Amino acid sequence: MHDIIEELERRRAAARLGGGAKRVEAQHAKGKLSARERVLLLLDEGTFEEWDMFVEHRCNDFGMADNKIPGDGVVTGYGMINGRLVFVFSQDFTVFGGALSEAHAEKICKIMDQAMKVGAPVIGLNDSGGARIQEGVASLGGYAEVFQRNVMASGVIPQISMIMGPCAGGAVYSPAMTDFIFMVKDSSYMFVTGPEVVKTVTHEEVSAEELGGAVTHTTRSGVADMAFENDVEALMLMRRFFNYLPLNNREKPPLRASGDPAERLDLSLDTLVPDNVNKPYDMKELILKVVDDGDFFELQPDYAKNIVIGFARMEGQTVGVVANNPMVLAGCLDIRSSIKAARFVRFCDAFNIPVLTFVDVPGFMPGTAQEYGGIIKHGAKLLFAFADCTVPKVTVITRKAYGGAYDVMSSKHLRGDVNFAWPNAEIAVMGAKGAVEIIFREDKGDPAKLAAREAEYRARFANPFVAGSRGYIDDVIQPHETRRRICRSLTMLRDKKIENPWRKHGNIPL
Ligand code: HXC
Repeated sequence: MHDIIEELERRRAAARLGGGAKRVEAQHAKGKLSARERVLLLLDEGTFEEWDMFVEHRCNDFGMADNKIPGDGVVTGYGMINGRLVFVFSQDFTVFGGALSEAHAEKICKIMDQAMKVGAPVIGLNDSGGARIQEGVASLGGYAEVFQRNVMASGVIPQISMIMGPCAGGAVYSPAMTDFIFMVKDSSYMFVTGPEVVKTVTHEEVSAEELGGAVTHTTRSGVADMAFENDVEALMLMRRFFNYLPLNNREKPPLRASGDPAERLDLSLDTLVPDNVNKPYDMKELILKVVDDGDFFELQPDYAKNIVIGFARMEGQTVGVVANNPMVLAGCLDIRSSIKAARFVRFCDAFNIPVLTFVDVPGFMPGTAQEYGGIIKHGAKLLFAFADCTVPKVTVITRKAYGGAYDVMSSKHLRGDVNFAWPNAEIAVMGAKGAVEIIFREDKGDPAKLAAREAEYRARFANPFVAGSRGYIDDVIQPHETRRRICRSLTMLRDKKIENPWRKHGNIPL
């Protein structure tokens, strides 16, 4: 017995060593933690249950028969984050560059299958050179097995990817199908083809960082949701992020008690919106003043800034916030912002998270770039997402709600449950100036007449009462009471149940 225990310890120690002290040192020298260090930092202390420590690859080509490292380049298992169950895999770059073999893929699939059986999220820490080159198609098959599971788990359990090193080629498509992608600055990159292939094919010279680093994907492509400074910050914020989410699609997100009173008024909101309708103001200030404890976890803060998305809590309950931001492009909807918000609304709807929408939108962005880029199809994504959504929906129009964008932004007509407007709201087909220039074209040469028409139009339509008279908004509320009114609405909606008609699936304009 003693010998067997010694043997077990010897084997465990070999697995824990990964690719060896030298390679771990090299990993540290790059500012990166090892795969195991990352898992231990992510999970509550002492909760990690590791699986498949003794798994080895089965490849005999290219001298691989004599080159086996227990665990085969990925640490897998489950544990707790703030006392809540989570499954995790962490690729070990010190073992064959974290490259994915058939056995490595089987380990990932095993924990994904188990997570689906028990209904718990999967967090993947990616740090890999891609397909294990020595294994060829067996490795490609392994990827596809993971992809298939990503798709089956989509909308059932939250899936989160943290990119903490290379992630290239087809390997990017597993994270791409998860719900959120976080990246670490300067040490992670994602691309379908690397700088060398790019140079050969398109003659562009670009570094890995520029092509697919964290800054690129959080500012230019929108592929990633957040960029963190280093591994430690990334893992700590992942723990905070996890607290907003339910474990699966049959549960509600956890309640987190807050000392922030639901009835709290904020008088400063009464002067947030400037008198001049063309002057911007900071929508994020409104969000921070309305949600519990001013705590807002913004996603994609540096991409499509004309719309703001993220998680917050109202009376301890997670809400997904979607808000036009008049500070950028006057808060209009364009291709990027529509896609950004649509995917977020889909996540909230899949995981029982109420959607809180703040509206100040002058319309869709005009121009050939938008039309040629397919704003019709992409704008429809957001419309589809809001209309299809069955979770509680509370909407507050803080100023402009013009044209098609009024309809899109969680309007009453798209089954908004509670739709409020502030007294200064303007709910109309368009702004007064644009409107009179069209309907009173004959007065174009007479500025005085046009000004009078504009004033008339403004008095008639630039208010919330026309929509109120039709019941399109449920009440006109004072800005300072916004939190109180939203909290009451969400409490009323807590047990909301509506179902969409049976169908295999809808056909969202992809
Ligand atoms: C096997 C690999 C590997 C791979 C790296 N290694 N990538 N082994 N298969 N894909 C090994 C290296 O041989 C080396 O082993 C160790 O990992 C560290 O690699 P280095 O090159 O020394 O590290 P670094 O300089 O940091 O460069 C990292 C890298 C580079 C940029 C990832 O290794 C690289 O370009 N690798 C190949 C990437 C690739 O082409 N992958 C296939 C992509 S196609 P030793 O023993 O020296 O420590 C793909 C398809 C997926 O993934 C399809 C899904 C549908």
